[in-house]
Amino acid sequence: ATNREDVPMKDLLQCLEEASAKGREVVMAAVDKPRSVDYKGATDLVTDTDGRSELAILEVVRKYFPDHLILGEEGGVSGDESSDYLWCIDPLDGTTNFAHSYPSFAVSIAILLRGKPIAASVVEFVGGPFCWDTRTYIASAGGGAFCNGNQIHVSNKDEVERALFVTGFGYEHDEAWATNIDLFKEFTDVSRGVRRLGAAAVDMCHVALGIVEGFWEYRLKPWDMAAAVLIVEEAGGKVTRMDGGDFCVFDRSVLVSNGILHEKLLDRISPPTEKLINDGFDFSQWYKP
Ligand code: IPD
Ligand code: CA
Ligand code: CA
Ligand code: CA
Repeated sequence: ATNREDVPMKDLLQCLEEASAKGREVVMAAVDKPRSVDYKGATDLVTDTDGRSELAILEVVRKYFPDHLILGEEGGVSGDESSDYLWCIDPLDGTTNFAHSYPSFAVSIAILLRGKPIAASVVEFVGGPFCWDTRTYIASAGGGAFCNGNQIHVSNKDEVERALFVTGFGYEHDEAWATNIDLFKEFTDVSRGVRRLGAAAVDMCHVALGIVEGFWEYRLKPWDMAAAVLIVEEAGGKVTRMDGGDFCVFDRSVLVSNGILHEKLLDRISPPTEKLINDGFDFSQWYKP
């Protein structure tokens, strides 16, 4: 298939499944094994597995679609800048957990057509030492969301008081971090609890699975969110920015919920400054509405 031609969804899904299976294989082979850790920041880890998983995924995508644009956390941008297709890859989401053999890490891949996710897969590693397993979430626009082949739906809980939430904190202890500490306090006080697991893609898939009612985080990157937001929407959930505005993968904040609770969550979240929503990164070159 060439650029600017709509590739049939079944071809995209075939490539997506093969690519995510490769990423899964690389991460599974490395889990619990000795690993080399590097630092992007004081607590921002990267292992050799992050890079290896990305290369394995890239090889599959390149085989099928040599001219599609690819944006990976470790390798940056490659491919034809004029492509309407953008593959957005987090080869290992939750690197800190992976490095500690603590469950909750994932391989996350999304296919964007003109800036919007149209197909997505997240492979979640569950269990722990001596009993690792995976759950694979797949979604396509208008096609529903599936986990290990079963169609999934968000929960129908309609009271914050009976809801469970999950959030995340970025590596930098900045204004966004401090703001979220306050939100963590507030929601812990009014709900059944707020979890903090450490892999944004997994957290959002748990909303899609219906085991938590909502997730929010500031300062995420496109590869953290691109796949899981589609999975949540296709499971019947809602995705906006933290100020309730229309979400775009190139924004930096996200609020996802089962939909029913969305307004109630927004009511309790003070409107974030523009700086908290979009800061530091200009992804606009890859966003072609
Ligand atoms: C991180 C995880 C974490 C979130 C961070 C992300 P990484 O991704 O998703 O949950 O809090 O903001 O950077 O670096 O492990 O791929
Ligand atoms: Ca990282
Ligand atoms: Ca990530
Ligand atoms: Ca990562």
